[in-house]
Amino acid sequence: MTVTIAREDTIAVVTVDNPPVNALSQALRQALVDTVAELDADAGVKAVVLLCAGRTFIAGADVSEFDKPPLPPHLPDVVASIENAKKPWVAAIHGSALGGGLEVTLGCAYRVALSTASLGLPEVKLGIIPGAGGTVRLPRLIGAAAAVDLVTSGSPVGVKRARDLGLIDAVIDSDLRAGAIAFAKSVAEEPLPQPISSRAVPAVETGFWESAEKAVAAKARREVAPLRALASIRKASEAEFADAMAFERETFLELRGSSQATALRHVFFAERAAPRPPELSGITPRDIRSAAVIGGGTMGAGIAAALLDAGLPVTLIERDTAAVERGLANIRSIFEGSVKRGRITKDVADQRTASVIGSDDYGLLADTDLVIEAVFEDLAVKRAVFEKLSDICRPDAVLATNTSYLDPDAISEGVRQPERFLGLHFFSPAHVMKLLEIVPTATTSPEVLATGFALARLLGKIPVRAGICDGFIGNRILKVTRAQAERLLLSGATPSAVDAAMRAFGLPMGPFEAQDLGGLDIAAFQRKAARARGETPFAPVADRLCAIERFGQKSGGGWYDYLPVDRAPKPSETVAAIIAEEMGGRTQRVWDEASIADAIILPMVNEAMRILEEHIALRSADIDLVKIHGYGFPRWRGGPMHYAGERGLGEVVAVLDRLSAEGLAEPPCDGLRRAATQPAL
Ligand code: 3HC
Ligand code: NAI
Repeated sequence: MTVTIAREDTIAVVTVDNPPVNALSQALRQALVDTVAELDADAGVKAVVLLCAGRTFIAGADVSEFDKPPLPPHLPDVVASIENAKKPWVAAIHGSALGGGLEVTLGCAYRVALSTASLGLPEVKLGIIPGAGGTVRLPRLIGAAAAVDLVTSGSPVGVKRARDLGLIDAVIDSDLRAGAIAFAKSVAEEPLPQPISSRAVPAVETGFWESAEKAVAAKARREVAPLRALASIRKASEAEFADAMAFERETFLELRGSSQATALRHVFFAERAAPRPPELSGITPRDIRSAAVIGGGTMGAGIAAALLDAGLPVTLIERDTAAVERGLANIRSIFEGSVKRGRITKDVADQRTASVIGSDDYGLLADTDLVIEAVFEDLAVKRAVFEKLSDICRPDAVLATNTSYLDPDAISEGVRQPERFLGLHFFSPAHVMKLLEIVPTATTSPEVLATGFALARLLGKIPVRAGICDGFIGNRILKVTRAQAERLLLSGATPSAVDAAMRAFGLPMGPFEAQDLGGLDIAAFQRKAARARGETPFAPVADRLCAIERFGQKSGGGWYDYLPVDRAPKPSETVAAIIAEEMGGRTQRVWDEASIADAIILPMVNEAMRILEEHIALRSADIDLVKIHGYGFPRWRGGPMHYAGERGLGEVVAVLDRLSAEGLAEPPCDGLRRAATQPAL
């Protein structure tokens, strides 16, 4: 870490260089305080430019220090020392000014930024609130309503919006250093502007706080930080600056040690570790400049849209011209949806649609860099597709299957140059869901595996390496979730009670509602295949529902009844009767929400431990990412493995032992029992 000072006439240029993202470590905080004192004492300096080296301005407090006691100088004191400097400080922003980084700029007399920069207070995403005046100075600068938006969403804004809000004073088009120095010279002789801390928060409309509270609570669901951030902004609007600062700091320190913040930090670092598996370090991925998708159904269209969103030209191959038209229409309707939701403009949608060619002629793929297959889940159909691709594609083209449950090794049997083959398992809807399971076969080359990870980065996905087994990581655990949900039904819980308990745990939907939405037929098909292999999947009630064609919302009923007018699930007498019959003489238990959640989540953890033992997943944090980004597991719980670690593995084992004694779950696996005797996961 270095902080250097250069002089340009009467302007001092302070450059912070603390790779990778100039986070405000203790050493950097100390250096900034020392620099203020040094420049205050230098009569030749009339104004100061604060610049950062590397890819970004200061991206915030150093999150890796949050597990340790805070060390002085504390960030609020650093910001105050800049605000109290005798000369105007001009923050010159490129990349991102986030969290503590933005708070530092609020201590500066002025802020200028490159037009590509972004600014924000993302603390709530880490389960905390800004802790160095963000909630107190920001409303004084841009008003309470805009501050509430920025702070409680945690989403950064671009420079245009920042300028409109009054968050920055000037936009620099190209040379940031030169532009900021010129700006500093223009203000060097002016009287210092009134520090933000001594300005008043503009008055808000009557009822503003009450409606803001409702809106923030509705979005936050069970995350605590957004409402605490709102309370801090309110305090800043109603109390003296010093009192508001004390209130903010106390809240920040309290939340920093909370279980939600610990979980969210765990996810933050897991997300950053996942794209870089150590064994691929130094391996250069292949160049991907063009892509093709085989099959334009639900998944193929979504995958094509994701590739087009990332700027790749796409060829879509279908069985015949009618299917090509359907596939292209599926892609168009995805982009129309994105326009309706305001995610992209109509022009952008048109450009993306123009970058896809549809055809039934595999011959078009002779020079394509990457081909992703998303045809029916049928081994013979998939093998036939890859045989054709083997004949037509360049030998260095990467070939991928999106299979959910088939064995990629078996699919790749006829592929020539099989080192170029891998599984890329997207989640539905593929243009939205962040998770990408990357599944190497026995023959996939490291270069091709690295290409899978590079593709994930290009598509903005979270890649997780998964080994080959039935369902890879995510769907293998999902099977346990569903089996547990049925076990609960046979021991006295109702579908509505199970779904409500899982929503209370933090999932967006319970297991039965989710099955009704996605359709029960796909899982029934998997169970049939599993039985043909001699396995005995447990789904007595789901099997009977499928036998009477209750496939979910699409057939007007599944685990629940649905009226044609809405999608609201209504408890079904038919289902209740089937459950009663299947229960036979089993003893009924009284289930509360917590014990329902235990009976579903802890067996998931048990399966996850088996997955780790079998090296299907490389790290327990990868399993957390799979469940968070593919299945809606609440981020603020950190994923099932983090949750289990926080609960204590000893307790997890004890609950599983009790459940298994009652026939309500598998007993804890050896790996879980062993891990329970060690300090942490
Ligand atoms: N503290 C510590 N390390 C950080 C960090 C932070 N605030 N932000 C990023 N890093 C690390 C990452 O862990 C990663 O490390 P690695 O290379 O060892 O894996 C490295 O920096 C690069 O990070 P990314 O891969 O995310 O880099 P990108 O270039 O893709 O993105 C970024 C850059 C937009 C700045 C992104 O890193 C980011 O959003 N960072 C988090 C910013 C944030 O949340 N700031 C608020 C912190 S809390 C705070 O400031 C409290 C204050 O109010 C008191
Ligand atoms: P789908 O039935 O919606 O689409 C399959 C498409 O493939 C159809 O449009 C069909 O015309 C086309 N097709 C079939 N044979 C073809 C061939 N020989 N050449 C070209 N096109 C052909 O199926 P869906 O849901 O899109 O699934 C596709 C694959 O993705 C399957 O392997 C499935 O297991 C997997 N998957 C599905 C997920 C889902 O949620 N639906 C999630 C993740 C993976």
